[in-house]
Amino acid sequence: MIKWKLAVFFVCLLPLGFLGLGIYREDLGPNPVEYLTHETGAWALRLLLVTLAITPLRRFTGWRRPVLLRRMLGLFSFFYACLHLLIWLWLDRELQWGSMLADILKRPYITVGFAAFLMLLALALTSNTFSMRRLGRGWKTLHRLAYVAAVLGILHFIWLVKADLLQPMIYLGVFLFLMLARLPALPERKPAPFRRKVTS
Ligand code: HEM
Repeated sequence: MIKWKLAVFFVCLLPLGFLGLGIYREDLGPNPVEYLTHETGAWALRLLLVTLAITPLRRFTGWRRPVLLRRMLGLFSFFYACLHLLIWLWLDRELQWGSMLADILKRPYITVGFAAFLMLLALALTSNTFSMRRLGRGWKTLHRLAYVAAVLGILHFIWLVKADLLQPMIYLGVFLFLMLARLPALPERKPAPFRRKVTS
């Protein structure tokens, strides 16, 4: 499993690597700040959807190992959301807290993005085993916020694009598909037991 975890860890770092390379080569297009904001936002949303795809994947294939990758995938979604917020705060708003607050209060797509960010923050802070034990059954309820964060992230995207809705609609389609895949009426495959490697 450790090999899988390492592989997924490095795959999740690839977008960051490409962005770093783009910065180094000064090859981020005519508006680098906009490019970085878009890419980090898109990766936060993509990884959140991948995290939400783990349970349906287990239901239909009986394959349980990806469940062990869920926490890492969720934390990477939060990591890209942090970069997204940081780039906006630092490079776009130039750390002017007043103008940032005004944007959060006045521009609906920023309000919604900020709400999604706060939810991802709550999920990341409680993703550890200690919080799981302390919150008991409440932990599962709290972690359903991941669906709300995904809806808000998609709404944030729909709201900010003025003309071409194709991309946010694709994310919405994926989200709806993942929700349908959770319907209890759908047939489920029994999870296969974890197999340990026998070493002699
Ligand atoms: C405080 C929180 C947030 C702020 C201030 C913020 C701000 C922004 C801004 C300024 C843009 C570019 C808008 C433009 O081009 O006019 C953007 C794009 C985007 N944001 Fe956020 N955002 C926040 C949180 C989030 C979160 C939590 C997610 C995902 C879960 C997200 C996903 C996206 C996506 C997918 C895009 C569009 C990417 C693309 O064009 O491909 N944002 N955001």
